[in-house]
Amino acid sequence: MNASRVSIERDDESNSSRPKIARTGGTARPRTLPLTEGTMTSAIPPQTIKTDRKKTTTHHLRNLKGRGETISMLTAYDYPTALAMDKAGIDTILVGDSLGMVVLGYENTLPVTMDDMIHHCKAVARGAKFALLIGDMPFMSYQISVEEAVRNAGRFLQEGGMDAVKLEGGRERIEAVQAITGAGIPVMGHLGLTPQSVHQLGGFRAQGKTAAAAKRLFDDAIILEEAGCFSLVLESVPERLAQRISQRISIPTIGIGAGRYCDGQVLVTHDLLGLFDRFTPKFVKKYANVHETMQKAFTAYIDDLEHKGFPSTEHIVEMDPDEWAEFERLIKS
Ligand code: KIV
Repeated sequence: MNASRVSIERDDESNSSRPKIARTGGTARPRTLPLTEGTMTSAIPPQTIKTDRKKTTTHHLRNLKGRGETISMLTAYDYPTALAMDKAGIDTILVGDSLGMVVLGYENTLPVTMDDMIHHCKAVARGAKFALLIGDMPFMSYQISVEEAVRNAGRFLQEGGMDAVKLEGGRERIEAVQAITGAGIPVMGHLGLTPQSVHQLGGFRAQGKTAAAAKRLFDDAIILEEAGCFSLVLESVPERLAQRISQRISIPTIGIGAGRYCDGQVLVTHDLLGLFDRFTPKFVKKYANVHETMQKAFTAYIDDLEHKGFPSTEHIVEMDPDEWAEFERLIKS
């Protein structure tokens, strides 16, 4: 655990001020809440804190499922994004290995290394003080042996400042999940479209669409819960299958392209922001077009330089006239 992190256990029963809308048609509660002293750090200016949040825990996510309140999750890979999300009141942040595609520009997530992940986890941990932080275990960091899986999971907490880890796969991961949770590290599972198996799956395609595939996925969800996972991502699976799994298991399901009835939702932030230019999956809702905004800003900057619009007098450093006169004298002598 990152020593600088605020680590306050959330009192779920007393946390009735949570500004959320219940999944099953509850009423919206106000987002701007009075500040409680001692629940923030100097990294976040007091006037911009929206809620009197406490640190989210895995236990809290489970209570949200129990109350039918939707869990919010987004991916982040850097300090400013994590800070903005934390201020907005996100429940949990995933430092996803989607990093490889949306930040590092690879074709898929397979080239991402443990060192890449730790580097970005550290940045996110500096920005987010309240969200539950989950580090995504990259390809080949948990498949080779249980020992390597535990060692690498430990690095996410010890070096990366994460609270939990996520890994992909079902029944074939029982031993890894048991060993990692046995070491005291919470594990989130990931079923359906598991991008690290892109070549085995024959591309980025929806999963669980036949009766047999759906049954296997359903069974895997139960197996992962029994192995000790605290939560489960369901990616690109039929809505009604995700709903049935969410009803059957007691741990929260977090959907991405899995319809409306999961216990929570996650999106890749670069998709939500319109920051990833290559493609936008069908299940994404774009809340901004940051790629276009950035391009416009860069064009305006270049244009300014060409037309001497920047820097102008308000951007320059002044020098005391006497000091300047003295300087002139010095360089002449
Ligand atoms: O890496 C990632 O961003 C993910 C999410 C899509 C769940 O695994």
